[in-house]
Amino acid sequence: MKKYHAYFLTLSLASSLTSHTSYQSTDFSIVKCTIQPTTYEQIWLTQLRDEHSTREQFRIAAHKLIEALVIKVYDCLQTKTVTINTPVAACNGIALDDLVEHIVSVMRSGDIPLNIFSKHFPYAAINKILIQRNEETAEPIFKYRKFSPTIAHAKKVIITEPMIATGGTLSMVINLLKSHGVEEKNIIVAAICAAPEGLRQLEQQFPEINVVLTVIDDHLNEKKYISPGLGDFGDRYFGTE
Ligand code: URA
Repeated sequence: MKKYHAYFLTLSLASSLTSHTSYQSTDFSIVKCTIQPTTYEQIWLTQLRDEHSTREQFRIAAHKLIEALVIKVYDCLQTKTVTINTPVAACNGIALDDLVEHIVSVMRSGDIPLNIFSKHFPYAAINKILIQRNEETAEPIFKYRKFSPTIAHAKKVIITEPMIATGGTLSMVINLLKSHGVEEKNIIVAAICAAPEGLRQLEQQFPEINVVLTVIDDHLNEKKYISPGLGDFGDRYFGTE
């Protein structure tokens, strides 16, 4: 009995702590998914946010949330009706019409969702970009990129970047992709957590992109960290904090 009580207490606490956001997906035209985390997402988000979570617990929670993010990305892709035969009868089903031909990982944190996304889209080319943020000013600094020459003609490009804070890094990435011929409407940004300030910035600059998210948090703090957020995603995942 005690065990069940503790379980429901944890659930209701998880819900009250993670539903602080008053933002709706309709507040941002670029957000193309629901942002009311499911119970499953709330439980893993709570474990991801908790400063007492061990590295193992953090990684497990990150993997669960990224798998759920893949499902949300699928909801943004065009499908087509197909007719197949089961061993018993013919029936209609659906298949992807929009092939995700390219994934762009914003190193280092973007490599974490990349590992999971590339299993779901095993034919996609993997493009990498490294932009570091100045710890003092939070300004993005370009370091490295390696894009496939076929990216210009891509029908769908997924950018993996778990945290959208100021939007500065993503802005640089999207501008680079555009300069390589990628159209805004063909870009899907897959992120776990975003600050409203970053989303507003991206919406003004790139009104036609698509953003798929788990949660929109309250605000950026004075150090440009997302609040309540989860701290530095890469450091906690890789163990470099
Ligand atoms: N990057 C992170 O990992 N965390 C933040 O809060 C902001 C940017």
